[in-house]
Amino acid sequence: MAVLNINGLSYVADAPADTRLLWVIREHLRLTGTKFGCGMGLCGACTVHLDGEAVRSCQIELADAEGSRITTIEGLDPKGQHPVQQAWLELQVPQCGYCQSGQMMNAAAFLDSNPSPSDSEILDAMQGNLCRCITYVRIKKGVRRASEIMGA
Ligand code: FES
Ligand code: FES
Repeated sequence: MAVLNINGLSYVADAPADTRLLWVIREHLRLTGTKFGCGMGLCGACTVHLDGEAVRSCQIELADAEGSRITTIEGLDPKGQHPVQQAWLELQVPQCGYCQSGQMMNAAAFLDSNPSPSDSEILDAMQGNLCRCITYVRIKKGVRRASEIMGA
């Protein structure tokens, strides 16, 4: 049993301490915006924030997440109006959409630490998040546009 702080709310997770955070979020708490891709830390589909840092929830054990502030795509912004969400909508970034909550969570954490990135910094920051639909050009434009919205 663990108490988690997710999107500003407390949840009691009745699962073994070594359960991966991804499964607690999806299967126990039914916050299904966070996706299962590889389960091996390789694709980024499961990205959430732990104390503001982008992490791969398929690699985090429940016991290690207790006491941290966890944010999922559902809690990125109370109205779904985070600059990254605005930019993704404006530029119609997703294709199938499966990877995109992970892309947005990674982009949001990146822009928090670097609000005015260069193109190469965007590519470096986003390169670990894979997209089977090859939306990489729009993802890069989306991060750039989100940076502009944040600066406006
Ligand atoms: S599902 Fe976690 S990195 Fe792919
Ligand atoms: S939009 Fe389909 S996997 Fe990225």
